[in-house]
Amino acid sequence: MPVITSIADLKRLHRRRTPKMFYDYAESGSWTEQTFRENTTDFEQIRLRQRVAVDMTNRTLRTQMVGEDVAMPVALAPVGMTGMQAADGEIKAAKAAEAFGVPFTLSTMSICSIEDVAENTTKPFWFQLYVMKDEEFVDNLIERARAAGCSALVLTLDLQILGQRHKDLKNGLSAPPKPTPRTVADLAFRWRWGLEMLQTQRRTFRNIVGHAKNVGDVRSLMSWTAEQFDPKLDWEKVRRIKDKWGGKLILKGILDAEDAKKAVEVGADAIIVSNHGGRQLDGALSSIRVLPSVVRAVGDQIEVWVDGGIRSGQDVLKAVAMGAKGTMIGRSYIYGLGAMGQAGVTKSLEIIHKEMDISMAFCGKRDIKDVDRNILLIPEDFEGRWQA
Ligand code: GLV
Repeated sequence: MPVITSIADLKRLHRRRTPKMFYDYAESGSWTEQTFRENTTDFEQIRLRQRVAVDMTNRTLRTQMVGEDVAMPVALAPVGMTGMQAADGEIKAAKAAEAFGVPFTLSTMSICSIEDVAENTTKPFWFQLYVMKDEEFVDNLIERARAAGCSALVLTLDLQILGQRHKDLKNGLSAPPKPTPRTVADLAFRWRWGLEMLQTQRRTFRNIVGHAKNVGDVRSLMSWTAEQFDPKLDWEKVRRIKDKWGGKLILKGILDAEDAKKAVEVGADAIIVSNHGGRQLDGALSSIRVLPSVVRAVGDQIEVWVDGGIRSGQDVLKAVAMGAKGTMIGRSYIYGLGAMGQAGVTKSLEIIHKEMDISMAFCGKRDIKDVDRNILLIPEDFEGRWQA
């Protein structure tokens, strides 16, 4: 077993152990992947300011996200098809998050259903909702999330149509994979994945199969999205969903201060500055570059979080210092899951926690709640010379 010391190590192992189709699904952005790349490279532009001869004892990363206590300001993002990265992947990730003390978000496009995750965990998790044309089905999902005791609804606003990811088309992405000579050959090298998959019944989109009427081929995320997602989504509909849910609402996919203001008007509890991991509008700015303008616009009225490009504890620290009250990680835990199952998700959380804790100390801080822009060195033109 190799010694794992970083998220990059988990990524290498994930690539080796998981069928190419699913590794590629996680590791891609749309079209040229510019936004996907810049999500990570823009974090590198920001530097941390070292301070010395300060008391480093009794450090804490504990804080709150939408009123919930968290071990660090990091939640697991909703990721479609998590249960294809490893058998029962959503259950494994939820268990790891629960034990660590950070929130887990289940995607609408998950393999394990809301009920599967609820039956196998003890603490409330969050549910991510996509708005679909079939309002009855959307209402039904909201009811199921409520019945499962979910403590927040994460409504995704940036994926009513799917950005094109070339690799998914070329790989013929589906869940379960169709047995072609290529997928079978690929599996020969990933026999452990295959064996574990054979031991579970959870191999397709279980939030949908058996629940939605008039559904065509749900093996394919692409055809399902094209058929079912509602391209007419507007703020009125967001308000309707908020009223229907009645609980904490987090709006995901905000990438503009004007939209952030609308989210405040609607009465959301938090917003996530996000470009969907660079998987939707290729050419959009990285999330971390957009974050300061959104914090300036609404940071005193709503919790502003960020996701996209976070691959280390240092990245989380930078995001918090830039004004984010919380962050979400997607790929960083998916690498862990694909590499080593539940233990791998735990490992990714441990790595990020440790990196954040020690880096915070080097910056002269002991409490994540005291971290602010003073710990950063930011290039003068970081927010860019782009004019709207
Ligand atoms: C779904 O949310 C995706 O980005 O593939």
